[in-house]
Amino acid sequence: MATIVGGIAVSHVPAIGNAIARRLQHEPYWQPFFDGFPPVRAWLREARPDVVVVFYNDHGLNFFLDKQPTFAVGAAPQYVNADEGWGIPSLPPFRGDPELSWHIIDEVVRKDFDLTTCQEMLVDHAFTLPLKLLWPDEESPPVRTVPICINTVQHPLASARRCLRLGEAVGEAVAGWDADARVLFLGTGGLSHQLDGERAGFINKEFDLKFVQSLSADPQWATQYSIEDLVELTGTQGVELLMWLAMRGALRGRVRQRSFSYHIPISNTAAGLLVLENQ
Ligand code: DHB
Ligand code: FE
Repeated sequence: MATIVGGIAVSHVPAIGNAIARRLQHEPYWQPFFDGFPPVRAWLREARPDVVVVFYNDHGLNFFLDKQPTFAVGAAPQYVNADEGWGIPSLPPFRGDPELSWHIIDEVVRKDFDLTTCQEMLVDHAFTLPLKLLWPDEESPPVRTVPICINTVQHPLASARRCLRLGEAVGEAVAGWDADARVLFLGTGGLSHQLDGERAGFINKEFDLKFVQSLSADPQWATQYSIEDLVELTGTQGVELLMWLAMRGALRGRVRQRSFSYHIPISNTAAGLLVLENQ
């Protein structure tokens, strides 16, 4: 059976891609953010994942407002990145794992989730940058990937309760996958941020820290909030923290926080980086 090695959650901000491309990691603005990664990479070298299941939200590259699935799962042999207009270099294609994709799809649909299945899928900065941050030295990350995209762009959005349950269903599917493979869950987005409107620049450190603590102590905690509550508490784009919740839902058994770093701001975003171990 597959082994679940743990979970990582990390913010995704296009400006990070620019910092990597221009080698600004040691500039004062960027250093505190990039300093969070070496311990996480050391943990990854111990955890040795073969496959990463990535919960992320597309921002208009693969799905636009005309067609916007609530939950979409990639089932392709590879995933291509493309220009989103941020002025950052596109990264080479990412390897897929169609066998695991279809296993997850079968099991999760059996548990009454409605999914869009994508045998072709462009992946945006929310997918590419976290993987680049985790494996900066390789041309492409040394893992296969399964993208699971959760809509945070066009309301109505799936509730926190449902995102946690989706994660649980994905975790159960992976735990029952008959394969000699080590699987990491990754959630990308958040923490609090708002990019436009009257509250542009809004950040809520107190809520972010409570939320992160709840992921190891009481993952149901965030499900007390409606999507409207979460927008109010974390900003219009802060709802991306649903990806962290789905990642947490996918972990089985006992979960322990291995490391957490938090830095305000990167661009408009409260940037977090969390590692959860699964025991
Ligand atoms: C920013 C944050 C995001 O989550 C995103 O998808 C795009 C931009 C930002 O803070 O600039
Ligand atoms: Fe985003």
